[in-house]
Amino acid sequence: MDLPWALLLVLLCYHGQLLPWLRTVGEPSLDEFYSEAQAKMFLQFYEQTAQVVLNELMEATWNYVTNITRRNQENMMQKEAEWSQFMLYFGTRARMFRINHFLDPDVKRMLSKLRNIDKSALPTKDLLEYNKLLTYMEAAYNGAEVCLNEGPCLPLEPDLEEIMATSRDQKELLWAWQGWRDAVGRQLRPVFGDYVHLSNKVAQYNGYEDMGALWRSKYESDTLEDDLEQLYTELQPLYLNLHAYVRRSLYRFYGPELIDLRGPIPAHLLGNMWAQSWGNILDLVLPYPDKPPEDVTKIMKIQHWKPEKMFEEANLFFTSMGMLPAPPTFWIKSMMQKPVDGREVECHTSSWNFYKFNDFRVKKCTEVTVEDLLSVFHQMGHIQYFSQYQNLSVIYQEGASPAFEEAVGSIITLSASSHKHLLARGLLSQQHLDSEEEMNFLLGIALEKIAFIPFSYMVDLFRWKVFDGTIQKSVYNQEWWNLRDRVSLRSPGYPGTHSVDQADLELNSQVLGSKVLKYQGLCPPVPRSEDDFDPGAKFHIPASLPYVRYFLSLVLQFQLHEVLCRASGHVGPLHRCDIYNSKVAGRILEDLLKLGSSRPWQQVLKEMTGEPNISTKALLTYFKPLLNWLVTENVKQGDILGWPDFSCSFEEKVTSKVSFLGTEAEPDQAYLGQWVLLSMSFVMFFLILALVFRLHYLEKQSLKKDTVVVKTMPSTYFLGIAMEPHQAVRKQWLLLGLCFILMLCCIGLLIWILTQSTGKAPWTKDEWQS
Ligand SMILES: *[C@@H]1O[C@H](CO)[C@@H](O)[C@H](O)[C@H]1NC(C)=O
Ligand SMILES: *[C@@H]1O[C@H](CO)[C@@H](O)[C@H](O)[C@H]1NC(C)=O
Ligand SMILES: *[C@@H]1O[C@H](CO)[C@@H](O)[C@H](O)[C@H]1NC(C)=O
Repeated sequence: MDLPWALLLVLLCYHGQLLPWLRTVGEPSLDEFYSEAQAKMFLQFYEQTAQVVLNELMEATWNYVTNITRRNQENMMQKEAEWSQFMLYFGTRARMFRINHFLDPDVKRMLSKLRNIDKSALPTKDLLEYNKLLTYMEAAYNGAEVCLNEGPCLPLEPDLEEIMATSRDQKELLWAWQGWRDAVGRQLRPVFGDYVHLSNKVAQYNGYEDMGALWRSKYESDTLEDDLEQLYTELQPLYLNLHAYVRRSLYRFYGPELIDLRGPIPAHLLGNMWAQSWGNILDLVLPYPDKPPEDVTKIMKIQHWKPEKMFEEANLFFTSMGMLPAPPTFWIKSMMQKPVDGREVECHTSSWNFYKFNDFRVKKCTEVTVEDLLSVFHQMGHIQYFSQYQNLSVIYQEGASPAFEEAVGSIITLSASSHKHLLARGLLSQQHLDSEEEMNFLLGIALEKIAFIPFSYMVDLFRWKVFDGTIQKSVYNQEWWNLRDRVSLRSPGYPGTHSVDQADLELNSQVLGSKVLKYQGLCPPVPRSEDDFDPGAKFHIPASLPYVRYFLSLVLQFQLHEVLCRASGHVGPLHRCDIYNSKVAGRILEDLLKLGSSRPWQQVLKEMTGEPNISTKALLTYFKPLLNWLVTENVKQGDILGWPDFSCSFEEKVTSKVSFLGTEAEPDQAYLGQWVLLSMSFVMFFLILALVFRLHYLEKQSLKKDTVVVKTMPSTYFLGIAMEPHQAVRKQWLLLGLCFILMLCCIGLLIWILTQSTGKAPWTKDEWQS
């Protein structure tokens, strides 16, 4: 049953009309067999069978993630194996066509897409292991819980996330932060190296150097890495100003023990498990705290919103623009909240295409909050994309690029979160925002979007380096944090520590962009070691999902938002735009979505915006008023941008491990060890003293002997060598001197260790934290 033939024969029974293609297998010449006409038939054959196999795979996977049991897992892995055999068969065939001679660009494009068969290219044994590994990693993440001392155990969603979002007690935050990483990262650490190894094998079987290269290939761009770098550089001033401002506000709240105004921010204080977006600490950082924004979550709760209503609300937005409503199956089969029947489920929010007419679903453990409402809008963007391109070939049923897939829903959330829209939908009551309230609003958006910039970039930057071997297995965790907190080096003459006006901003970005790795400016709140694996605490890493799409989408969504706003006739600042009800904008968006991945995204983008490149212009326009405000505020406070003091001081020493003679030990163990060492060296000291006396005595004796016993055989031995007594004596003194020096060294070392531990303990600094 290992042969793909078995599967194909079964499928053939379903699709008798495909026989003609197979019949030609009889007596073809090679050229004939791999002609363009044959290719078209081959693709047709693929199309019909792929839909069936894919649909079964999606159903099995869905069954597993919405009902995690061993049987469902086995079933899923079975379907995965079938899909792999299927892909292997078609991928291998697709590679045999010499597409350079083909005329139909669609045939060429489809065949070249079919050639990348991802993990299906692995030999059966490796594939089995790889699948097992992936399932293990994801299950480890999904099943992880953090237990209270004697109380219950808390899962990530919703409990730990809730703590991270709402708690302002740094001890509790630390408990959740560290607990989650202990629960997940440490499980993944031992297997991640194997995962990297097998992933690279996958890439190589597909003709790429490593997995990072395979992932990047989805963007059909030779300049992707440079372009990303460029985008990041353009956005960095915005991030650095937000970072400095938020650091100042946290300093006011938590005080100087926790926040160093010239250093990175401890990662557990930002309202999110990964500090990837900071919207949850808006109350701590509001520019105008006496004019707090209305609490939409509270209003939703008063209005008795239910998860289903939130999906209906998002659906309404799309239909108001004349786009497609979510199909009936969607409402029946989606998982819109965490089941209460005791099923174990994977809560991570995701949208699903089942490759069957109008079968699309969302899986989300929805809570009635405004954050989740916006997240639902985002997911409904995926559903809209699925619906729009479902008449295309299976091969084209994906976004123009992964970034487009993410951007669609986010475009809608940009409108949906505007004051104008929320007011119109009855989720706000205040009619107008004055300029101060507007600044509060913009900061709220920035905490979601701007704070996300470095994180969304560095997750894959990290993995690309892991895959290509730049980051070695022994330093995974260290390098992860280096990406997060390494200082922005400035040229010494650069006066940017205080003045941050517009001219400086440009200089600023040049200086930073040229020599700096890309960082969040965060540090771990407790020491980390290489037993930890903090990247693994983020879903997309154990789930092996690429991440840079979110970074690109962040830029792209503003670019598209601007185009749609202009089309809808919006005038005024970009952040006030709401494209609700705009049929014109709806049509433009629809034209984009309908194309799926049938054309390179650059072309799609050009048709829609007139520009072939992703550009930060719209994003910078959107946040321009906020940036001006932040710059002024930071200058007023004398805040510096960046984090020149990039070491993290760890206040919580109690739980930390100690490095003792190069091994890890509990602090009290190490303390004991030091005392043992000390007493040992005392013993040594007395031994040496004893030796001195004995030597002295012997010397006197032998001198006497020398005078008495003249002219006998040399009777003294030194280290087994016979020699004259006076020679032996001299050598003995030499040895003694050496012993003394050694002993002094020992004592010196001890004194050093002791003073270190009483002053500032060496273990309060992590070994690799410079
Ligand atoms: C979950 O899956 C098991 C099979 O492993 C099945 O017996 C059970 O009915 C499923 N539960 C639900 C609620 O679908
Ligand atoms: C897809 O095809 C179906 C059936 O032909 C049609 O009803 C539907 O409108 C098409 N969908 C789109 C998005 O074009
Ligand atoms: C688009 O990007 C490419 C590569 O980065 C660059 O060469 C080109 O000049 C850009 N085009 C426009 C119109 O900005």
